[in-house]
Amino acid sequence: MLQEKSIFTQAVHAGERAELPDYTPVSMPIYPSVGFMYEDMRDLDAVFGGERPGYVYPRYGSPTVAALERAMAVLEGAGQPAAAVAFASGMAAVHAALLGAGVRAGTSVVAAADVYGATYALLERLLTTMEVRTRFVDITDLAEVTEAVRAERPVALLCEIISNPLMKVADVPALADLARDGGAALVVDNTFASPYLFRPLEHGAEYVVHSATKYLGGHGDVMAGVVISSPERALDVRERQKMLGANLGPQEAWLALRGLKTLPLRMRQHCGNALTVAQWLEGQAAIARVNYPGLESHPQHAVARRLMGERGFGGMLSFELRGAGQAEVFRFMEALELVLPATTLGDVYSLTLYPAHSSHRQLSPEVRAALGIGPGLVRLSVGIEQAEDIIADLAQALAQVG
Ligand SMILES: Cc1ncc(COP(=O)(O)O)c(C=O)c1O
Repeated sequence: MLQEKSIFTQAVHAGERAELPDYTPVSMPIYPSVGFMYEDMRDLDAVFGGERPGYVYPRYGSPTVAALERAMAVLEGAGQPAAAVAFASGMAAVHAALLGAGVRAGTSVVAAADVYGATYALLERLLTTMEVRTRFVDITDLAEVTEAVRAERPVALLCEIISNPLMKVADVPALADLARDGGAALVVDNTFASPYLFRPLEHGAEYVVHSATKYLGGHGDVMAGVVISSPERALDVRERQKMLGANLGPQEAWLALRGLKTLPLRMRQHCGNALTVAQWLEGQAAIARVNYPGLESHPQHAVARRLMGERGFGGMLSFELRGAGQAEVFRFMEALELVLPATTLGDVYSLTLYPAHSSHRQLSPEVRAALGIGPGLVRLSVGIEQAEDIIADLAQALAQVG
């Protein structure tokens, strides 16, 4: 039929809308289409009405993104019914989970004081303008959390499984009990542990969020976020996503899905390398302190061992260069040859970051000091290279700052 049409028409339609195949691609194809057709208009009507599965428009859902969502529901679901909703970033996922938990004008949240900087800003700078109050607490101090939950009656209790940059570990089962008793939904940012190490839904969390930009994607080439919860709660999150947008694109979903396939292999290597590097750093005179949950010196080592110890303690650590300020830290970071000074984490590459001028820049030096983030603190995202090569690079850079 196209043969007889004008080149204007041919160019638009030629090659498209092939018959549905009778073969099955082994890996998920990327579907960039924003439109979906049904032979029978009543089918389209039924999809719009939620009476049959299907796709109508990508802000409502699309095939490649749905594949990532199914995968995350399996990985975080811990054998119970769970569903995932993917977002364009981790921050969009954090926002959506808070709304899902019931954050509205006039409600309050209790959150870990050392949540990721943008999460802190969302609570402290944006949600406050919408009459949402947040009380920040030391999430490792259960007496303080209990008191805050009792006083605030929050709709949500928010924590990160391992915090940045001091690697404090949240006792999620204990926090789930406190949240339940106080009528709050527990929201756990599981970015640093990934479901390889810990599955918060299994331990009483209502919402799990991820910056999939980190370990889930794993290769430093995709920005994405995911919220995982019960199917009922996920339905609610998706309804809100239809209005708010911040949907993940199909190319990004495909990259994240591809990343997931090697998540356990990468995490195993990250964990082994990080423990080796942390133990080595602890023995160096130039290092005043190492923060890694796998070390016995870590204040929440016992909690970390109980929650995740079977498989390891993650790939993230931080350490304090003895007597150093910004100038010495910068010289150290510039002297590194293998370890890259880049502003992200959870990639296959080893990466360093200076929290005082990046993730925690917006805090005053006094607030940083109160949180334990001194001027000599360096964060290290230990990659999957050979541990000895990472250590050799750290050693030569330490020698240069003397
Ligand atoms: C623990 C944690 N949660 C959330 C986010 C936000 O994720 P994204 O940058 O993908 O929006 C980050 C980003 O670094 C993070 O480290």
